[in-house]
Amino acid sequence: MSIRTILIHPDARLRKKCELVKNFDSKLDNLTQDMLETMYEAPGIGLAAPQIGVMLQVFVMDCALKDEKPNPLILINPSILWHSEETSVHSEGCLSIPEQYEEVTRPKSVKVSFQNVKGMVSEISFEGIEATCSQHEIDHLNGKLFIDYLSNLKKKMITDKMKKLKRELARK
Ligand code: NI
Repeated sequence: MSIRTILIHPDARLRKKCELVKNFDSKLDNLTQDMLETMYEAPGIGLAAPQIGVMLQVFVMDCALKDEKPNPLILINPSILWHSEETSVHSEGCLSIPEQYEEVTRPKSVKVSFQNVKGMVSEISFEGIEATCSQHEIDHLNGKLFIDYLSNLKKKMITDKMKKLKRELARK
């Protein structure tokens, strides 16, 4: 396993629609293990493949609290089958937009279909933080970021901060 480099916004790869996974092979297994390791190391509660420059419909998440046992989830080719009319507001962040947190309104619960690393199809229902996290990650697979839900002004301010951060990181 290895820790991959997380892309920082703005980056064209964070704005593309990802491709469906067709090969459920050991390479995919390695990718998902690397993604989990990278997410835990960051640390974060979710990571989508495009965030490490892999343009495939894959994300991992683990919303377990610190004192709970880990609950790593790997979702391949996910799609939202149903979402509640009821919404909730959570403060969201993103490993590709470090240290920026803003409130985003999303459906409170969702039902998602996905494949596991072996290609088996199943469905899972999420609510609370898991519903928010899964929707945030599925957005990544469609080239969408949480800042797209904010006002243009806020979005620009955050993007400018990230450009500055990237310049600083490049200098190191
Ligand atoms: Ni994110």
